[in-house]
Amino acid sequence: MTGNTTFTMIKPDAFAAGSTGLILNKIIENGFKIKALRLTALSKEKAEAFYAVHSERPFFNSLVEFMTSGPIVAAILEKENAVENFRKLIGATNPADAAEGTIRKLYATSIQYNAVHGSDSDENALIEGNFFFNQFDRH
Ligand code: CMP
Repeated sequence: MTGNTTFTMIKPDAFAAGSTGLILNKIIENGFKIKALRLTALSKEKAEAFYAVHSERPFFNSLVEFMTSGPIVAAILEKENAVENFRKLIGATNPADAAEGTIRKLYATSIQYNAVHGSDSDENALIEGNFFFNQFDRH
């Protein structure tokens, strides 16, 4: 059985380009409910922790530098079969390979500057959501 929750981040490239509103609108139009939303920024330590799985990759330092270069928007999304449906909506990691109409085809400019993150499993959706939100977050 698949879960109904996923996690996304609008990355610094898309935020800086002013695409946040259009991306959120596309997410909503495609039937996702926004359960939590936060404009924030990643410290070097947090970016390294979030992407720890990629720490041995040649692009790791460049990825951390990019992800700390400006604000990001984190969100928890709900829809049936959320992880798979959201990955379809965002398209392939490299926008050159992304299908027409996908968020990365529309708003990403390279395999690194790829506009959005989407969790790759139910387990990671929970871990990544908890990374940015918890039930005691009230201001
Ligand atoms: P994301 O889905 O957030 O997961 C890891 C990120 O690393 C990916 O999106 C890209 O931003 C980046 N990335 C993946 N592959 C490469 C690559 N070959 N070169 C540079 N950045 C990459």
